[in-house]
Order: sequence, then structure tokens, then C-alpha cells
Amino acid sequence: MAIYYNSSPTPQFHIQGKDFSYILHVLPNGQLGHLYYGRKIRHQKNFSHLMRQVPRATLSCVTEGDLAFSLETTQQEFPSYGTTDYREPAFQVVHETGHRISELIYVSHDLFKGKSKLDGLPATYVEDETEATTLKITLRDEQSGLETILSYSVFEQTNALSRQVKYCNTGQGRLELTRALSMSVDLDDADYELLQLSGAWARERHLEQHHLRPGIQSISSTRGTSSSQHNPFLALKRPGTTEHSGEVFGFSLIYSGNFLGQIEVDHFNTTRVQLGIHPFDFKWILDATEQFETPEVILVYSNQGINEMSETYHRLYRTRLARGVWRDRERPTLINNWEATYFDFDEDKIVTIAQTAQKLGVELFVLDDGWFGQREDDTTSLGDWYINEKKLPNGMPHLVNRIRQTGLSFGLWFEPEMVSKKSRLFQEHPDWIIEVPGYHHSHGRHQYVLDFSREEVVDHLFEQMTTILGSADISYVKWDMNRYMTEIGSATLPYERQQEVAHRYILGVYALYERLIEAFPAILFESCASGGARFDPGMLYYAPQAWASDDTDAVERLKIQYGTSIVYPLSSIGAHVSAVPNHQVHRHTSLATRANVAFFGTFGYELDITRLSFEEQEEIKQQIHFFKKHRKLLHTGIFKRLVSPFDGDGNETAWSVISGNKEEALIAHYQVLARPNPRLKRLKLSGLDPEKNYRVNGNVYSGDELMYIGLSLPEPYTGADLQQKSQQGDFSSILYHLVAVRIEQNYLEKTSFTKVVN
Ligand code: DGJ
Repeated sequence: MAIYYNSSPTPQFHIQGKDFSYILHVLPNGQLGHLYYGRKIRHQKNFSHLMRQVPRATLSCVTEGDLAFSLETTQQEFPSYGTTDYREPAFQVVHETGHRISELIYVSHDLFKGKSKLDGLPATYVEDETEATTLKITLRDEQSGLETILSYSVFEQTNALSRQVKYCNTGQGRLELTRALSMSVDLDDADYELLQLSGAWARERHLEQHHLRPGIQSISSTRGTSSSQHNPFLALKRPGTTEHSGEVFGFSLIYSGNFLGQIEVDHFNTTRVQLGIHPFDFKWILDATEQFETPEVILVYSNQGINEMSETYHRLYRTRLARGVWRDRERPTLINNWEATYFDFDEDKIVTIAQTAQKLGVELFVLDDGWFGQREDDTTSLGDWYINEKKLPNGMPHLVNRIRQTGLSFGLWFEPEMVSKKSRLFQEHPDWIIEVPGYHHSHGRHQYVLDFSREEVVDHLFEQMTTILGSADISYVKWDMNRYMTEIGSATLPYERQQEVAHRYILGVYALYERLIEAFPAILFESCASGGARFDPGMLYYAPQAWASDDTDAVERLKIQYGTSIVYPLSSIGAHVSAVPNHQVHRHTSLATRANVAFFGTFGYELDITRLSFEEQEEIKQQIHFFKKHRKLLHTGIFKRLVSPFDGDGNETAWSVISGNKEEALIAHYQVLARPNPRLKRLKLSGLDPEKNYRVNGNVYSGDELMYIGLSLPEPYTGADLQQKSQQGDFSSILYHLVAVRIEQNYLEKTSFTKVVN
């Protein structure tokens, strides 16, 4: 892993990761060009021959007398508007005179070990300087004094490359940034399929793919959060690339607000990929000496399929984006009262649930919405973060003590960014909401968005939350956010800064998280936004786990969790067993299948367990025992997707987790509908050691057989010999635990099919 520098004929930089090369250079006009991103190549003294210059009479050209040098045909690294390139630029600056031309010319660069921090923004980090190498390139527009510093960090032994930009006004006048993306790169051709994670409430992060076509295609959010409609991630894969073979390029934005991910395929078949804060309704004023940092993008390269790309993201986001004491700690099995009680609870009900849960092995009780103000339904009290005396007359410390006495730890729900009009907070500060004075206030779930771009609002929330969190032994916070923004405006910003509100809002959210984490470092934060509407890498920096979806149905969860796993590690995916019929889709699935899906996330329960039969409670006890035994493997092992619910008729899904040393694995197979006289099936595993032998259900198989021939699934979930009900009929599932066994050499050669005792 290295970053090479060639000084002539113009400066060239060759960033080498484990398997990739990324090469950029200074163009003849001083701007920054791109030469190559793809499979690793050896370093050479000069790469300038890679630049394509093709004289064409129809081109707009840079230099008089030269018909070949046009930015239109040149792969660029940080394209600007208005010269000879007609594609969309990486940035746009309106200068004091009103013109929009910037000539960003290479000034200098800096190469060092380690990685810089970002001010007020979430970002990946290193614990030791040797973990990454960073290149910073400074470009400057002499006329205006606009400087941009492009940062590239390559993480050692990985295929992850970080990109980010700092815009600085080093001149005298005012600059208006109207587009400030985090990255742009021009790839050589357009033979790619775009892979994106799109959806809606209750069906978040479904996998969508299509071949690139000429013109612009994009994913975005203008809703104030990253949204459930599109995740701030896209990947380009070569046709034919599968989970386990082929080339794929991932782009993931570490940000939680409005974003744009855009692909532009031009008439020369070049593909421009861009990612960053959405330029729509965005403008940032940079007065003299001011700077603007963009969020970070993580590019991941894989030439061994989509799963390998995911593994790189999982490792990086789990170990070098997530922080704090909970990063590496085993996560508690929790019970959340939302789907058990909704708003209808009192102290005794809560304590009874906790007592029952404790007997079954649950470790954390989470009190969800409804514990504060006058909250009896969703029309009131957001913003009034003091105890609801009607429901909990003895106060928070008393309740927490009673829960703690059952042996469980205690967690609490907040929705800090919101206010109800029926609240004390709104009565006292009606101007604290995001609004445009004089215009109608649209609502979402009867609530309004607090203006987190204002420091005093963030201060107030910090005080309110600190008072509650400091009043009792609270070890977990679920931070919810249940509506998108409308009528975006802030009472305190001047008119020319109103388009800064959406980004300033997110900075305010990050600031509050940071202050709370600092004040309560032992608290485990779980982020949430109407389920998974803000499930993004930005949030993972503050909250190592996130509620993936309000849809808790096991069958729906297969798609949601499969899609989520494309970028996010299992240790971040909140997944609960809930009641049947399911509250979102009214489906009946077995308790075993519900758990078999939820195990592959941060596991918990969200139902009234006091109402379950003795047999069901006993089954839950077994499930919790199983999860505790395997949670380390589940959260730190290597996740392999095996059968996609997005393929074919979607009737089957399979995935697995393998320990780093390949000694152990958990394999899960799910079938939506039972089929008569079905096809015979073998499940080809992945990621095992071909040289090792594994015990599965009492039999021993070689790793190579399990991967290349496959594991025979039981007679398709209808056979009478199946031990578990979960393996019969519709919505069936089966879990295998594989353990490597040491057996006499040549044992498999000598033995036809042998049952191993133990
Ligand atoms: C939306 C969340 O996704 C749910 O889990 C629950 O916390 C509700 N909000 C409470 O209002």
C-alpha cells in the first residue's frame, strides 16, 4: 500500500490499495485530471500516456492552436463549470461579480502517514498513524483566492479509499458555494450496472440494479435526512459480477442529510460518478478566511464480487467509523415496549415486562415513546422531556431502580429534533421550529422540526436530555426522528444564508450527539428515523447501531436486512422479534423464523412477552441463550450472502457468518412459501477453509465440498423427519452451526458418511 508521486512531466499520484490503483495527475492547463481507477497495476515512472487526447473539429478546446486538448474528452478529478467540459461539475462558486468561472490550478501537495479529522463531521479514523496514508492536493483560483484541498486517504491492507474536500476562501471578497460535492471521478467506459439501495418506509434499502444508459441517472434525498427512499450509497459493477466474483466499485457517503449520488454517461462513453451534499436548495457563503468541509466518501474496490466490497465496508465501518466503548463490546439482548404497549403503559406494566424478560435472559429494557410530558398519543408533548406523571407518578429514578432491581439495565427513547405544537416547549419558543414566517406549517405525524441550525436550540436539548440521563442509571438511548423537513427556513439566519439551513441542521444534530457522547460515554446509542430513514454511515459514527426498519415481519426483513448488509455490518442492524400477526403486514410466521432472521443483527424482542404461553417463553429462553453464545461470531465474523431475495421469484434467501479464523460458521436458509414436489436443493457455502472439515448436524463434511458442491438442504421443509416446526410450511427457516473438527488425516477418504459423536 502506498501513494507514489511522479514529478514530471506534470505531477502524478498513484494511490495503491490492496488490490486497486487510483491514478491522477495535473493536466497541461494546471487543473487536476484522472487517469485510472481499477485493478492494481505496478507503479511506473510516467503514466501520462494514459491521457486520451483526440483531435475532433467539433470539440471546444482549451488552448488556441491545439485541437486535441479539450476537457470534454479528458477524464477529470475535480471538474469545474463553464470551460470546455459540458458535464456537471464537482463544485460551483458564484463570485462577487456574479461570474461562475473558477480555474483551480495545482499549487502543492502533501503526503503523510495517518489521516486528518474533520471538524464537526463524522469520519473514518485511524488509531495509529501507520493505518493509513494521506495525500492532500491544494488547488487555487488566483483571481478569487478560492482554494480547495482534496484529501485522499488509503487504509493499509484494505481496498478502501477516502475522499473529501475542503473549500477555503483565501481572498478578500465573498464567495458563494452553490455546489460542493465531496468527490467526482471519470471512469474510462460505461459498461457498468448501477446498484443502489432504495425503498420507502417499512421497505427500506431494497436492492435495485440496472445497466447504465446515456445521460444522467441519480439517487438523492432532499428530505432533510438521508431518507428511506435512497441510501447515500451506490455501486457500479461490471455485467456478470456476482456476490462472489467480478469487479465492483462502491461509493458511500458518510453523511445524514440531503445528498446527491449522480452518474453521468457522456457521448464518449465516459462515466462520471459524483457524490456529496445535494446542490439543490444548497448555498454556502464563504466570507474571507472561511472554510467549508464536505462530508467524506468511502470508495471501495473489489475484483471478487459484491460480497467482498461489503466485507471491506463492514470492517471499516465497524472498527474505524463506529467509536466508543460499545464499538467492540457485545451488544445486550434487549426488549423494547413499543409494539408491546405503544402509548398504553404504566409503571407496573413496564416492570412486569422487564421481570418476565429477565427470566428469559434479556439484558436491557428499553422504554420507548410515551414516557414524557402529557404524551398519550402522537399529537402531543414532543419537546417536553420530563416524566409523564400520569403514567409514571413515581418518577424516572424510581422506575429505573425497579427495572435495575429485576437485573436488567435500562434504556430510554428520545426524539430530540422534534416538537409538538401541543407542548410546553412550543408555547415558550414557537419560533424554534424550521419554518418560513408567514407561510403554512406542514406537519408529519403532527410534529414539527426544531431548528437545530441554532445553537440555543441544541443547548436546550442538551440540558433537557442531560437532566434526564443524569437522574438515573440509564445505559442506552434510542434517538428517533419521525418526519422529513418542509418549508425550510431559519428565523436567525440572514436571507442570503437560508440555503445553509439543511446542512447546518445536520451539523447541529452531530453536535448534540457529540456532546452527549462526551457527557455519557458509557451509554449505547441506537439511531432511528421512522425505522430506517436515517440509516447511514454518518449516524454510525455516533450510534454504533440503528433501528433498521419499523417493519418487523420476518419475511419483509429478509429483503431489508439483505439490502442493508450491502454496506452496513450486522453489528449495526437493529433487528427484533415481534408479535404475530405482524403489526405491519399481518403475517403469521413462527417464533423460530422470526428469531432466525433477527439473530443477524443487534438482537432483541418487541412484543408483550407476558402474554406468551409457557412454551413460547421457553423457546425465547433458548433463542436468547443461542444469541448470547454466538453474538460475538455474528457481529465480528465475515458475513456472506448466499441466496438473494431479490433474485428470481424471491422465494429463498440464505446468508452466513464465518469466524475470522474459519473455525466456526452460522448458516441460515429461509423459504417464503412452501412448494409442492419442489426441486432438490444444495446450498453452496462461501468463505470456509477448503482444507478444513466441518461438523454440521452431527456429520462431517470437507470445506471444499460445502463450498463447491454444497450442503444438501433437508427435504424441502416438508419432510416428517424435521425436528423443528419452523422448517415446515410457509415462512420456514433453518439454521446450521458449523464447527471445524480435527479428524484423523484421510478420514474422509476412508469413511463414506460418518456420524461424529459429540
Ligand atoms: C418510530 C420508530 O421507528 C419506532 O420504533 C418507535 O420508536 C416509534 N417511532 C415511536 O414513536
